Amino acid sequence: MNVVVVASECAPFCKTGGLGDVVGALPKALARRGHRVMVVIPKYGDYAEACDLGVRKHYKVAGQESEVTYFHSYIDGVDFVFLEAPPFRHLHNDIYGGKRTDVLKRMILFCKAAVEVPWYAPCGGVVYGDGNLVFIANDWHTALLPVYLKAYYRDNALMQYARSVLVIHNIAHQGRGPVEDFFDMDLPGHYIDHFKLYDPTGGEHNNVFAAGLKMADRVVTVSHGYMWELKTIEGGWGLHDIINQNDWKLHGIVNGIDTAEWNPEVDTHLHSDDYTNYTFETLDTGKRQCKAALQRELGLQVRDDVPVIGFIGRLDRQKGVDLIAEAMPWITQQDVQLVMLGTGRADLEDMLRRFEGEHRDKVRGWVGFSVKMAHRITAGADVLLMPSLFEPCGLNQLYAMAYGTVPVVHAVGGLRDTVAPFDPFGGTGLGWTFDRADAGRMIDALGHCLNTYWNYKESWRGLQQRGMSQDLSWDHAAELYEDVLVKAKYQW
Ligand code: GLC
Repeated sequence: MNVVVVASECAPFCKTGGLGDVVGALPKALARRGHRVMVVIPKYGDYAEACDLGVRKHYKVAGQESEVTYFHSYIDGVDFVFLEAPPFRHLHNDIYGGKRTDVLKRMILFCKAAVEVPWYAPCGGVVYGDGNLVFIANDWHTALLPVYLKAYYRDNALMQYARSVLVIHNIAHQGRGPVEDFFDMDLPGHYIDHFKLYDPTGGEHNNVFAAGLKMADRVVTVSHGYMWELKTIEGGWGLHDIINQNDWKLHGIVNGIDTAEWNPEVDTHLHSDDYTNYTFETLDTGKRQCKAALQRELGLQVRDDVPVIGFIGRLDRQKGVDLIAEAMPWITQQDVQLVMLGTGRADLEDMLRRFEGEHRDKVRGWVGFSVKMAHRITAGADVLLMPSLFEPCGLNQLYAMAYGTVPVVHAVGGLRDTVAPFDPFGGTGLGWTFDRADAGRMIDALGHCLNTYWNYKESWRGLQQRGMSQDLSWDHAAELYEDVLVKAKYQW
């Protein structure tokens, strides 16, 4: 099959979160299964080795014409096509920066151009736009692609066979705006019904994600738990009716992890500063060495007997930082060390600095986005805390388990799917879960976890072993995606 993955971000070129990781890894896994795979993303900066394909096209958005230039790289069996246009230039990692309307116009431009790339951008002589083509669009940013495909290309001899899959990574962002937004999209007038939603308060608005969900041939959510939550009033963020009406085309597929990047055996961030690579066989010495290196690097007391608890994530409400704040008095009474890494809301960044200032002997709050530190904390910590209020899939808990770090998570979305609760009697399970976003519940779970760490070494080792021996690679997920692609193509 010819698969064209379209997204607003893709690691390592530009990434603000898990979406970028998925778009960086899934295409390669599909290529390994024998498909021809292309990734189309905007070009926000200078990407080494990308060469100009010599194609120029012009697209108009809200009366403003932009010239789009196509750049290309072939990496690990995948064609990467970067679309350069003045609105994308110099954004670098500030992909969603600027006014709301500017972001929307950028995404309109990108989707208008991206849908035609398989026909216009020759990649090493390969033409993607034949009868075998399926697009994979991601989140609201590219949800317009399925809409354009249905609206304009069904009567086109070249494109009539193309189909689309839309992946929901996070329903909280939907491309909402006033109804007037619709007129910037250049769609047939009657399409407005697909975009217009009525708020419970009586108002109406334009919703890009809603239209994409209706128009896509299939929809994937990044876990089963999240798929179920999306159908509820609380979890659907206003789109639950649409999700329920389209139940027949929904599929839940848990993300994989990039095992070339997230693997303690080969992780390059563990090559220096006293860190070391390790495997399950060398866990005792290797992980201990990483823990000591982390404590040293962060200026914490180097002690093997004190559990190091890590938190890595965007500092916002979704990630449950408030729960940690509430639990702080309890945490700091325990003989533990807490290491938090993240950026986000200014008040939460300040809070991290304050925690560190008030508890210099126990807490480190690293404000910043550091890939290196994320790897080192994952390797050096004993426990990873993820109290997210909602979590469509979550990747950090998967990284943690691959590194023998035991997760303690709020049982929602992908966290519930991937962290089976520890059962001391059956000797099963992968970590601790708590079933309500409540500091008391989190403290309970963390308390059980620490008790096991201190007093039941055998059980702890079992948890680490089961976590590390799972196949979390993309290969399995790619197989499931393949099935959805086939359905998108032939069953509609
Ligand atoms: C979003 C979700 C996260 C998921 C990621 C990749 O960032 O919040 O849970 O893991 O997308 O699908």
